[in-house]
Amino acid sequence: MKKLTGQGALAAVIAHRGASGDAPENTVAALSLAADHGASCVEIDVSISSDHIPFVHHDDSLERCTNGTGLLNEHTAEALDALDASKGIEAYAGEPLPRLSKVIDLLSSRSVGLNLEIKPFEGLEAETVEAICSMIESQWPSHLPLVFSSFSRLSLELAHKRLPSVARGLLVEELPDDWADLVERYDCCNVHCDGAKLNKEQTQSLVKHDLGVYCYTVNDIEKAQKLLSFGVHGIFTDYPQLMLASLPA
Ligand code: G3P
Ligand code: MG
Repeated sequence: MKKLTGQGALAAVIAHRGASGDAPENTVAALSLAADHGASCVEIDVSISSDHIPFVHHDDSLERCTNGTGLLNEHTAEALDALDASKGIEAYAGEPLPRLSKVIDLLSSRSVGLNLEIKPFEGLEAETVEAICSMIESQWPSHLPLVFSSFSRLSLELAHKRLPSVARGLLVEELPDDWADLVERYDCCNVHCDGAKLNKEQTQSLVKHDLGVYCYTVNDIEKAQKLLSFGVHGIFTDYPQLMLASLPA
């Protein structure tokens, strides 16, 4: 396995939404468990409340992951703070929907690197990028790995302008034909894509281009091994403990 170093480098095993196979996704509990399991990097999804406070949450709507209803960005931060994000798992009852600031505190204290996926509501790209970047600027410890990624091209562009020093990953499902133009346009050092849709030739082209290549969401050991044998630098998994125990260090 080729270990990537320098800007954009994350880890061979990245805990996707924390150790989300074993704890409620995108919560401090799941991120803390990922650190307990030995993960050196995690991935989270971030959008903003109605008063523009960044929260760690995947979906637009609150129903799947919390006891709230409606869209996340219809609620103030104070209202979101009152939600339970334990998904009805008794062991995690009362686990809050976390603010990004709380997650940064945890990752700093555990020395865990971060792939922060910017998940803006449509039309709120500028507000979302601004809220995230100003928090990162004031709170993120510069010695820990940090990569922004987004399916939203506008968000990548805005993040590049606002905080160019933070590495960016072009986030796609399938590798588009114009990937080389896109990584140049958004000044990306990584490509993050669906592991089920990437082949060996594509991986080799990306690696030849000096790009970091990371694949989501890989929960099967053989699939992870296959991707790593292509030259992929790392995988996002819901089961970091299993992957760390099964893949070469
Ligand atoms: O960032 C990798 C992966 O998380 C992208 O897809 O939908 O799980 O956020 P999604
Ligand atoms: Mg994500």
